[in-house]
Amino acid sequence: MVRDAALNIQPNPEQLAQAAADFISAQVRVKPELNILVATGHTPMATYAELARRAEAGEVDFSRATAVQLDEYLGIDDDDPRSLWGWMRRSFVEPLRLTRTVRLESPAQFGTALARLGGLDLAVLGLGPNGHLGFNEPPSLPDAPTRTLALTPASLESNRAYWGELAVPEGAITAGMDVILAARQTLLLVGGTHKRAVLHAALKGPETPEVPASFLRRTALTVIADEAAWA
Ligand code: F6R
Repeated sequence: MVRDAALNIQPNPEQLAQAAADFISAQVRVKPELNILVATGHTPMATYAELARRAEAGEVDFSRATAVQLDEYLGIDDDDPRSLWGWMRRSFVEPLRLTRTVRLESPAQFGTALARLGGLDLAVLGLGPNGHLGFNEPPSLPDAPTRTLALTPASLESNRAYWGELAVPEGAITAGMDVILAARQTLLLVGGTHKRAVLHAALKGPETPEVPASFLRRTALTVIADEAAWA
């Protein structure tokens, strides 16, 4: 099934963050026990900061929502600055005052935890410059499960921007394409000219494992992008 994605183009990254915060706030107002798959990376950070501001001001309440980890590097300690669990806690869980989390530790543990939750209500995703979702690297089929894998050179390169002098770990675990595509709502956030080609490939090119994000068109997808990424 292919659906038309709702495409929301904002003039700049600040307004992208406002629109995304509006979208997520509306979901948690409808369902306070929202189960949210949470991307890290640079794109959603301004959105999370705006949600934190709203939570602090009492405009929205995430205390009954659950944050579900999307991906993680392998072979690093909990207190390692590169821990994506740590990044999700600092940018989302703590400032938005969530009390419930699901950590991604192994495919079996993750699957059990998701089943107990009754699935994901919302997946908040960024778009990899190579079309990856989480660390579902190209090629990834729509039924690719939660698994460990080696990062591609393109992802090692894009992730270098996060860690300065520290090396990017070469192995990772990711929520599967099957998990992401089963979310009841998907919000894809895309900003910057460097994402323009891959955004167009994801929304307008063929559905292909070479651009895992192209399979999002099978879901209830909302894309919020800035002009730079779309124009
Ligand atoms: C992060 C993640 C990645 C990023 C993607 C875009 O948890 O899963 O798929 O969402 O690489 O990263 P940014 O937003 O830094 O361009």
